Amino acid sequence: MCGIIAYAGHRPAVPLVLEGLRRLEYRGYDSSGVCFEQGGDLCVIRASGKLQELEDKLSGMQIFLATTGMGHTRWATHGAPTESNAHPHRSFRGGLCLVHNGIIENYQECKNELLRKGVSFQSETDTEVLVNCVEDECGPGLSNLEAFARALSKAQGAYAVAMMARDEPGTIYAARQSAPLLLGIGTGENFVASDIPAFLSYTRDVVFLEDGEIVRMTASSWEVFSLEDLRPVSKNIQRIEWDMQAAQKGGYKHFMLKEIFEQPRALADCMAGRLDSRRMEANVPELMDAEPPERLRIVACGTSYHAGLWAMPLLEEWAGIPCTVEIASEFRYRKPLLSRDEAVLVISQSGETADTIAALRIARAGGARVLALCNVLGSSIAREADLVLYTQAGPEISVASTKALSTQMMALTLMALHWGRVRGSVNEDTRHKAVSALLALPDQLQSLLPGLQSEARSLAQRYAHAKGMFFLGRGQSYPLALEGALKVKELAYIHAEGYASGEMKHGPIALIEPDFPSFFLAPHDALFAKTKSNLEEVCARSGPVIVLTNPQRQGMELRDGTQWILPEAWGPLAGFFLLPALQLFSYEAASSLGKDVDQPRNLAKSVTVE
Ligand code: G6P
Repeated sequence: MCGIIAYAGHRPAVPLVLEGLRRLEYRGYDSSGVCFEQGGDLCVIRASGKLQELEDKLSGMQIFLATTGMGHTRWATHGAPTESNAHPHRSFRGGLCLVHNGIIENYQECKNELLRKGVSFQSETDTEVLVNCVEDECGPGLSNLEAFARALSKAQGAYAVAMMARDEPGTIYAARQSAPLLLGIGTGENFVASDIPAFLSYTRDVVFLEDGEIVRMTASSWEVFSLEDLRPVSKNIQRIEWDMQAAQKGGYKHFMLKEIFEQPRALADCMAGRLDSRRMEANVPELMDAEPPERLRIVACGTSYHAGLWAMPLLEEWAGIPCTVEIASEFRYRKPLLSRDEAVLVISQSGETADTIAALRIARAGGARVLALCNVLGSSIAREADLVLYTQAGPEISVASTKALSTQMMALTLMALHWGRVRGSVNEDTRHKAVSALLALPDQLQSLLPGLQSEARSLAQRYAHAKGMFFLGRGQSYPLALEGALKVKELAYIHAEGYASGEMKHGPIALIEPDFPSFFLAPHDALFAKTKSNLEEVCARSGPVIVLTNPQRQGMELRDGTQWILPEAWGPLAGFFLLPALQLFSYEAASSLGKDVDQPRNLAKSVTVE
């Protein structure tokens, strides 16, 4: 996830673009860059690190003459967050510059073809490949618009792009496919950006672009075309009434809510290039050259630890790899016996959690191969591990982790399927069902989320005043019960315990009374009957229950409680629906209690102390 702004108008473009990038910094912040017209050429200035680094670089430069320019703030996906990987990227022959948000899935194939034609590359990015694809299409008799459209129609994946051409001063090209991009319409000036705050100080008139649309804009004109055949598309201008703060959150009240609703996109990005829908198999390029381990030890903290627990049965059943899961702060102070055939997998959204880094170093010192599952590119853990897989969730701003966990679950599912295929331990039927269910997940979740939120709100209003609550589940629902309880503690400051349903009788059941609710995770799986027995034990002691279950189980006898019916997901994937329901319940509980959802008390997003 990155931020894009492009401008064609009458004001000095570079300061305006920098101001826009400031407003987009929440979308990515590991490097940035600008492109502007100067002396008949395109001038590109980039810097790694925060936007301030770029501003410092530009401060002594003559930047006030250009009235057309574009900028980018990056959330790295391909290649480390260095200056050479920062956008804009210039084409090999120098005539075009491009900024990009998203992932071009077939970039490697395109790059190979360009390499054969003699193009050389300065960066590791898919963006540099794309700008060269456009240049490759340029030729006599073809307009820049046509070349741009031809190249984009060959690109697979998600993108929002803006482009400038040396031979067409004052003009910006842009297009989108499954990544946000909109136009800001001013008087004698026009804007393209990833999000409204980038230009909201200049205009409130917005044109929302759709997938497969392409834009050509100058200071005094803007046109939208269909990518397919360059037919003009007529668009409506809409007036935005939001204030700046609301706009930065994309209209959501909190970053947490925005990030919960971003999960369908994040899951699709995590799968991109790793699932082969023709062969119906997982093919994780990062794992291609690595032997599957004989044994796997997962080490992590907090929500990331829950991802490991959730994935353990898949890694064992599908990949046939014995697997254990440990809390990093415990692992680091034991003297673990590590064997040579064992790999340690550290999971960390931030890649900077102190205990997880320490665990990684201990594992390395003990001779184990270290794999990492991270969200933040170029983070300490990503740099120190032998092999790293990125979740591709995009920046997570809210302290409580949401889309980071669902993408960790997704990446681990893909790992289990990939290794299962390599080791021949997952049968074809399971593989087929898993892949088709995974491919359908983002759209299903997309349509499910609004309904989940309203259900979560009414349940939260009923139960948010409880003095404490249980979250209970079995099998893969158990780690999600731990996560549900963690979220309610973190956000609503309600004491909540996550338990394996079968452990209830060994003590916790003593707490059950009429004002102590239990939240049961009871999807329609092989363990449903067992969970139901535990549910009845609670009901028999007058404990109110909330049962998160599937339509087959509708109409259960409940003395006091509510059934929350979710559509059924294929077997082991039920968690991808249960999790957002739990996230929304805690979000709505915290909101109804008036808590600070995005920055809960005493918590930090990245815990860099032990
Ligand atoms: C903090 C965050 C949690 C997160 C944990 C581990 O406690 O508040 O949301 O799960 O750290 O973070 P990591 O970045 O290593 O996944």
